[in-house]
Amino acid sequence: MNPYDEPLFGEAAPAIFQTSLFGFDTVAEFERAIQEGAPYYTRGKNPTVALFEAEVARLEEAEAAKAFASGMGAIAAALFAFVKPGDRVVTNRPVYAGAHNLLTGVLKRFGVETTFVDTRDTEGILRAIPGARLLYLESPASYTYEVLDLEPIAEAAHAEGALVLIDATYTAGVLAKPLKHGADLVLHSASKYFSGHSDVIAGVAAGRAELIEALKEPYMLLGAKLAPFEAWLLVRGLRTLELRLARHRETAARAAEFLKSHPAVRRVYWAEDDPLAKKYLRHGASLVSVELEDEAAARAFADHLKHFKVGVSWGGHESLVLPLFAQPRVARAYGFPKGLVRIHFGLEPTEELLGDLEQALSRVS
Ligand SMILES: Cc1ncc(COP(=O)(O)O)c(C=O)c1O
Repeated sequence: MNPYDEPLFGEAAPAIFQTSLFGFDTVAEFERAIQEGAPYYTRGKNPTVALFEAEVARLEEAEAAKAFASGMGAIAAALFAFVKPGDRVVTNRPVYAGAHNLLTGVLKRFGVETTFVDTRDTEGILRAIPGARLLYLESPASYTYEVLDLEPIAEAAHAEGALVLIDATYTAGVLAKPLKHGADLVLHSASKYFSGHSDVIAGVAAGRAELIEALKEPYMLLGAKLAPFEAWLLVRGLRTLELRLARHRETAARAAEFLKSHPAVRRVYWAEDDPLAKKYLRHGASLVSVELEDEAAARAFADHLKHFKVGVSWGGHESLVLPLFAQPRVARAYGFPKGLVRIHFGLEPTEELLGDLEQALSRVS
């Protein structure tokens, strides 16, 4: 059992250590806490946050994990920990827009170059590796869910001394184990499936202890600390993670089949259709994207849906749609067709969601 999960009174849910600091009776006790890595200030360490970190490390079968105030906090800390001016990063396209903007904006200003290569262009990724310091990859990719051929890519990266970081938000430690296929570090937006209830923004990184140790300086100094209450909600979310993913998948898989047969839909993006899904994915999750004829069709579809709110993010209990044209910066960055819509299938009854898709598509001219 991990030391942060010892019940005090046999409680079924863990206590929350909702405190900013820990006080000691003597200087010697304070010194001992520092030496032993015990909590003394919540920005550095908090038992509730440590419990969430231990749970994620167990899930990812990693030596250690570090939690952050957001997925972007984890991504930024990892990039700042491992790259310096003059370095080059290789990333796959389409990668999550925030990471794309961090690489092409802030990090470019700090003298870090990025090479973008399509997710399924394994040869292109392999060609881009020599001379790169780090590979920042996402699989399945954002918005279109192509699966990376991680094993040969990680092997080539390690032969060149480059680190491999994987944004594994989609697979959530359950649907894939990137660390087993050669990744050095996995990064998650815990705001998605780990939370599952759309009430937390959080991030977490997991991997070898020495790499997690290297994240601690940017973590401490950039201040992207996870709050104890959010960590407590995340521990609760993890308890139903696998069940929720199975349910999300059931609805999304049926919806993907229905959407493929609909005349108003030009193309369906669903992770299980990728040729590499069998090798790397246990199963798909909640996300399906559809390409409709144009922006007007995408707008009409989203507006006529009754059970799906228009909204960013995903991974919660409620169904959402995101027409990509409504986020012009993202759409432009990847050259997405105007009619592309991302759908997150929540936990509502499957038949209701399928019926809603059907009625909304029937109103798309
Ligand atoms: C794949 C992926 N990675 C990272 C992030 C960033 O996470 P957060 O919003 O928790 O900062 C997101 C958010 O949408 C995402 O979809």
